[in-house]
Amino acid sequence: MLVASSPAKAILFGEHAVVYGKPAIAISLDRRMNLTVFPAAEPEVDGGKLSMRKHRYVKQAYGDLWNGLSLAFRTSSTIPSASGLGSSAALSCSAVAALLFLRGMFSEESTARRAFEVEYNVQGRASPTDTSCSAHGSAIMVSPREEEDLLWTISALGTVWNVHHIEPPELKLVVGYTKKPSITSIQVEKVRNYYNRSGFARETIDDIGSLVMDGLKALRSGDLVKLGELMDRNHSLLTILGVTSKELDKLRDAAGPLSFGTKLTGAGGGGSIIALTDRPEQVCDAIRKRGGVPFAVTTSRTGTSIEVRDQDMLDTLIIPGPGEKN
Ligand code: MEV
Repeated sequence: MLVASSPAKAILFGEHAVVYGKPAIAISLDRRMNLTVFPAAEPEVDGGKLSMRKHRYVKQAYGDLWNGLSLAFRTSSTIPSASGLGSSAALSCSAVAALLFLRGMFSEESTARRAFEVEYNVQGRASPTDTSCSAHGSAIMVSPREEEDLLWTISALGTVWNVHHIEPPELKLVVGYTKKPSITSIQVEKVRNYYNRSGFARETIDDIGSLVMDGLKALRSGDLVKLGELMDRNHSLLTILGVTSKELDKLRDAAGPLSFGTKLTGAGGGGSIIALTDRPEQVCDAIRKRGGVPFAVTTSRTGTSIEVRDQDMLDTLIIPGPGEKN
């Protein structure tokens, strides 16, 4: 009766460093997580009882935001899970948006804020990059400073992230999914241990931060050669942080000669690479030959959206006003 839908994302520059308050650029992709919500005898997801073990993000959102009649959720997604493409952020945004809508409190910004809290509580240390990108759509830059086109500011444990709209670039990007899961919490923890004990790791994080600002300039001027160079360099810095893998590097080797630049995207360890190219079909073939799952992507202009399918049913559920929960 209500469908909340949120896009996938790819990080062009700055993953991991953004957790430490450095800048990052992310674009939303034309793949989506759709979540249908309707009344039920008891809370459930895809036919199973809602549980923290199986449905961490929906359960967290439900506990944070809902005190009305029991709800059932059905997921339908074109985002491979644990692929580095933000499937958990898209699920968090969709769950949060649906519940906020039922409470008359839905907005892009409130979705971004509450979905970040959901991810933060479920995953541990995280930045708002994935959730803000999914909620807003288009493309975003997250930075420690306020710049033009500020959307909102989010902070946690003393780290401040200013989230800005940037015009979605017209880029031909191919995703190469390794089929190996990328577990964000594990990779973030790995980088944190290295960061805490090594000055070199901290310098590497700083280097990633500086590179992102060059990336923004290249993006604005449409300089594909420069963008590609910076993507390759960003990947090398992520290699120093220990978050690449042989599966990711194999797909980079396949796509590299046909691309301006390639890098892992998201937390790494597994998941996906992105390749910036003017030969998307050839890149897709090369990735497929090396055992990856390729798909050409474009930017989604639509962030989290809500579609009401059955207004009468909805009227039985709506909680007027903010309700008891915060
Ligand atoms: C994951 O998509 C991106 C990371 O930077 C984690 C985060 O920003 O929360 C690795």
